[in-house]
Amino acid sequence: MLDRCGRHRPTAPSATTHENTADRLLTIADFHPVQSYLEVGVYAGGTFNAVNFPRKVAVDPNFMFDTRTAAGPGIDFHELRSDEYFTSPDHHERFDLIFLDGLHEFRQTLRDFINALDYSHAASVIVLDDVLPNDVFSALPDVSRAYRFRELNRPGNPDRSWHGDVYKVVLAIHDLFPRISYCTVNRGEGNPQTFCFRSPRRDFRPHFASLEQIERLSYFELLDHLDLLNPVSEDEAFQIVRAFSEHSASAR
Ligand SMILES: C[S@@+](CC[C@H](N)C(=O)[O-])C[C@H]1O[C@@H](n2cnc3c(N)ncnc32)[C@H](O)[C@@H]1O
Repeated sequence: MLDRCGRHRPTAPSATTHENTADRLLTIADFHPVQSYLEVGVYAGGTFNAVNFPRKVAVDPNFMFDTRTAAGPGIDFHELRSDEYFTSPDHHERFDLIFLDGLHEFRQTLRDFINALDYSHAASVIVLDDVLPNDVFSALPDVSRAYRFRELNRPGNPDRSWHGDVYKVVLAIHDLFPRISYCTVNRGEGNPQTFCFRSPRRDFRPHFASLEQIERLSYFELLDHLDLLNPVSEDEAFQIVRAFSEHSASAR
């Protein structure tokens, strides 16, 4: 089942499969120290309000819940677009864990990722949502076209997922950020997401000719290049982040 934000929702809560983002983030925090957390794109607070860290910052131009009921020490809500938040001189700080789940457009999410690097430190983990559209309609960068073309082609289909073209951000990281390592949870159940962290890639080799070529890639070309997402199972992704965490702790 997929929600309006295009995320897979477990039909029943699962304590072991971490299908839910909050479970994933809390699992990362089990082995990676997380004191501070930034979430860009918060919607109804399903993830933000379910994770418990000493410092939490939420950014969304339109919170779909009463933030006063979720307020508390160390918690800030910024009802802003991410560009406004990241360009405000008052808000700069560095977070241990950042979850990017805002506007599902390539350019916006690439900007969010680049800004998130400036709001992170050597041991931070950045999690990108919506990196693998579940069909060609979901991959359209315009949500109304995604819904319209799905309805035209699959009348009555109740699927309201929209991932946009965020997948191109992972391909841009692959080609343009040799000092960022990443893996994408894409095997087994659960929402595909990419975990990113600062670690030089010894096997770095750009694949595409330019950022423009990446921006022009279609959903089907993504399917041709799925290996560039570094797909792994959820458990493998946790092991990779754990190894990074242990390495960054020993380097401190
Ligand atoms: C997929 S929902 C977020 C779901 C949430 N992270 C969760 O786990 O429950 C996407 C959210 O991004 C917000 N959004 C849209 N444009 C944005 C922007 N430019 N900056 C920040 N958030 C944005 C929308 O208002 C919406 O609430």
